[in-house]
Amino acid sequence: MRLLVTGAAGLLGRELLRTADHEVVPAYHSQVVPGGVQFDVRRRDVVREVIRSVRPDGIIHTAYKRDDWAATADGAVNVALEADGARLVFVSSDAVFGPREAAYTEHELPCPITPYGAAKAAAETAILAIRPGAVIARTSIIVGSDGRSGEEQRVRRFAAGEPGVFYTGNIRCPVHVSDLASALLELLVSDVIGVTHVAGPQAISRFDLGRLIALRDGLDPQALPSAPGTPSNIRLDSRGTQDVLQTRLRPASEFLLSRR
Ligand SMILES: NC(=O)c1ccc[n+]([C@@H]2O[C@H](COP(=O)([O-])OP(=O)(O)OC[C@H]3O[C@@H](n4cnc5c(N)ncnc54)[C@H](OP(=O)(O)O)[C@@H]3O)[C@@H](O)[C@H]2O)c1
Repeated sequence: MRLLVTGAAGLLGRELLRTADHEVVPAYHSQVVPGGVQFDVRRRDVVREVIRSVRPDGIIHTAYKRDDWAATADGAVNVALEADGARLVFVSSDAVFGPREAAYTEHELPCPITPYGAAKAAAETAILAIRPGAVIARTSIIVGSDGRSGEEQRVRRFAAGEPGVFYTGNIRCPVHVSDLASALLELLVSDVIGVTHVAGPQAISRFDLGRLIALRDGLDPQALPSAPGTPSNIRLDSRGTQDVLQTRLRPASEFLLSRR
């Protein structure tokens, strides 16, 4: 399969490039990826040109920018509109939901409370209308092993005394970037369509996640500042998706102790 990966210079994009067993064409924005195509997902004409020249059989669309509606929402719509016959996997977020006690299943409709979550929710709705055969893959905090994910960087900064806190009331279901990439590549070649949840099975606070990262990286977990913060419990229930995957989505305490 010829696979187009957008956001190729990003945390998830890099892992997809590293592990995909396909002919991969990286699509990058400002950070150059050797052998890739430069594009701005906000420009529909540019997206069309890239897809027409690459002629992908599959697209994993990871590109986004948190505070940029056009990049996150319009960009995803541009990709869906121009995807032609390609199998499309769109990476979405738990930010499409607001806080509540119960976990969210794949069948639940978005109820975002932030502009970023709203942009992802708008993209989901448009993609499902334009390409009913696409996969929407909602995920949660992505953690890596090489120190480049946002959460690992925060741990390092806060442990070094930079200002900031980890909230104990902020609960999510983190996933390891290699588990996520593997699951997305599986979904790409599966016959699954519609909304999936690809997050870890363990609900954990940002503070406890930070402590686990600190322990893995040989930093002092006691040095991490914490505060309760406004309670924000957003848990993705990924069991329905896990049932159709070979990839095991590992809990944070496992992947942070096993150092993969
Ligand atoms: N990271 C998380 O914890 C997390 C949690 C839930 C969901 N997600 C979702 O997972 C996906 C991947 O996240 P990530 O952490 O890998 O993101 P990332 O590291 O921030 O990478 C995002 C990529 O998108 C590219 N991009 C930004 N604006 C663009 C534009 N206008 N045109 C084309 N490309 C553009 C960026 O390129 P430049 O930097 O060169 O501009 C960057 O390479 C995203 O869709 C995100 O919503 C992430």
